[in-house]
Amino acid sequence: MFHVPVLLEESLDFLLHDLSGTYLDLTFGRGSHSQEILNRISPQGSLDAVDRDQEAVSYGKNNIADSRFTIYHANYSAIDSLFPQQKFDGILLDLGTCSTHLDNPIRGFSFQSDGPLDMRMDMSKGFSAAEWLNSAPEKEISDILFEYGEEQASRKIAKAIVKCRATKSLKTTTELTRVIETVLKRTGKTHPATKSFQAIRIHINNELHHLKIMLSRLHNVLKVGGVVVIISFHSLEDRIVKNFFKPEIEVLPKDIPINTSVKETYRCIKKKIKPSTNEIKINPRSRSAVMRVFSKL
Ligand SMILES: C[S@@+](CC[C@H](N)C(=O)[O-])C[C@H]1O[C@@H](n2cnc3c(N)ncnc32)[C@H](O)[C@@H]1O
Repeated sequence: MFHVPVLLEESLDFLLHDLSGTYLDLTFGRGSHSQEILNRISPQGSLDAVDRDQEAVSYGKNNIADSRFTIYHANYSAIDSLFPQQKFDGILLDLGTCSTHLDNPIRGFSFQSDGPLDMRMDMSKGFSAAEWLNSAPEKEISDILFEYGEEQASRKIAKAIVKCRATKSLKTTTELTRVIETVLKRTGKTHPATKSFQAIRIHINNELHHLKIMLSRLHNVLKVGGVVVIISFHSLEDRIVKNFFKPEIEVLPKDIPINTSVKETYRCIKKKIKPSTNEIKINPRSRSAVMRVFSKL
């Protein structure tokens, strides 16, 4: 299993402004970015990494033997409590799922292979996609498909799911894909289950909520002059990132308190960097990536 890093050169060019600095990779994945950070920083530099997926953390522990490197199994929304005393020179976020999640049928992320309908990045917590789909009210399912997948047929798909589960619980990715295919026929290149799978995954992992909490806490673990590089893969994430750093726009729900002055402690370094045509050709998954860079004043 292999994960091709996205915007590797561009992200590290901005991130590594002091080669003896302390760095934090909040989305370790399979460590391609982390490994390259370690290649570039000096013996005095250090790198901490975080992932909510235990498999990613085990991979890091087993494959990176470097005294400058430490990895933690945690949700990045807990950065405050994870690093209460530490301030980093640079923090990297490469959001979303890893291709290794999609490639492993057992994790249930992909409609292209048969597996249990799980979709949790952290399998030690929360509920699986099957548990949710077999118990949530029809309107809740329809709202999630619409909001997180921008799925125009959300109501029809939710209705079909509820009809199906009345006779037999949904257990596998293939069963869910078949239900979606009864509503949507394949037309262009995109598979009819693409948007629904994205929406369910975002919901099961509460991805946007954790992203907002993490953003509201970043300043506590970043040095003055420190840089944060964020790579997003869909417009929902990128909108949250973009708006978070604009003082006049409120993206956080009321239960995540943040002082407006916190947002004013950042300066935008680079607005929107997209992968080159060449990178998209080599790694088509990179085509929807958008990178933004900020520094703390
Ligand atoms: C796109 S991959 C990162 C790939 C990585 N840059 C590499 O080079 O291999 C995103 C990773 O972030 C992790 N992740 C997503 N949300 C997270 C969260 N809230 N807290 C911690 N890790 C998270 C996922 O488990 C996944 O491994």
